[in-house]
Amino acid sequence: MKIAILGFGNVGKQFASLFSKAGHEIIIGLRSVSSQELPYPSAMFKDAAERAEVVTLAIPFNACADVLPELAEAIKGKIVIDSTNPLNADWSPKLLGQENSASEEISRLLPEVHVVKAFNTIFADVMHEPVREGQAVTAFIAGDNAEAKQQVMTLARDIGYAPIDTGSLYTARYLESLAHLNIQIAIGQGGGTNSAFIYL
Ligand SMILES: NC(=O)c1ccc[n+]([C@@H]2O[C@H](COP(=O)([O-])OP(=O)(O)OC[C@H]3O[C@@H](n4cnc5c(N)ncnc54)[C@H](OP(=O)(O)O)[C@@H]3O)[C@@H](O)[C@H]2O)c1
Repeated sequence: MKIAILGFGNVGKQFASLFSKAGHEIIIGLRSVSSQELPYPSAMFKDAAERAEVVTLAIPFNACADVLPELAEAIKGKIVIDSTNPLNADWSPKLLGQENSASEEISRLLPEVHVVKAFNTIFADVMHEPVREGQAVTAFIAGDNAEAKQQVMTLARDIGYAPIDTGSLYTARYLESLAHLNIQIAIGQGGGTNSAFIYL
């Protein structure tokens, strides 16, 4: 499958490595032309998104309102994997599930796209290790379109994770709260990022 990864920071680099090792074709979407040689093909966000079947978001949630509307036409009908967490600069929750989630907000920015929440509960530092102590790490997956969600579950399996369907995109609220808990343990409590959720 041809996958565009928008953003090439901590998460984007891990996605690129995992998906390309699993045999998928990667194109990195950037906000400006890179002066560095990248190990994957790259293009500006819109061009990369246009050329892919699935688009993954590896940019800050706070950038989505600026970045995504310009892509809406180019990615109509496609799957968008949303791995963002709605955070403030101090890592505290910007949204906390009462009435909204990053994914639902993104879905409103991209109304003709199948937004699927995935991978937001896995720290970039350990994404390269989908199996821990003999158990596949859980990839919680939420979305409103059953077929799109199945495709993302297959992609999660391709890269070594154990996907669990949590239900509609509404349940992204729970997944973002789970990520807030993960960050609280890792940063707030000093536990570090060498940890992952395994749902047995
Ligand atoms: N880090 C984690 O452990 C983790 C885990 C799960 C989910 N997430 C989520 O994944 C997303 C990416 O996190 P990350 O840790 O990879 O962040 P990061 O290392 O800071 O990388 C962010 C990427 O987004 C781009 N970007 C930053 N601000 C932008 C803007 N205003 N407009 C367009 N592009 C912008 C950056 O481009 P430049 O290089 O040009 O600045 C970079 O490619 C976030 O939504 C985060 O909440 C993170």
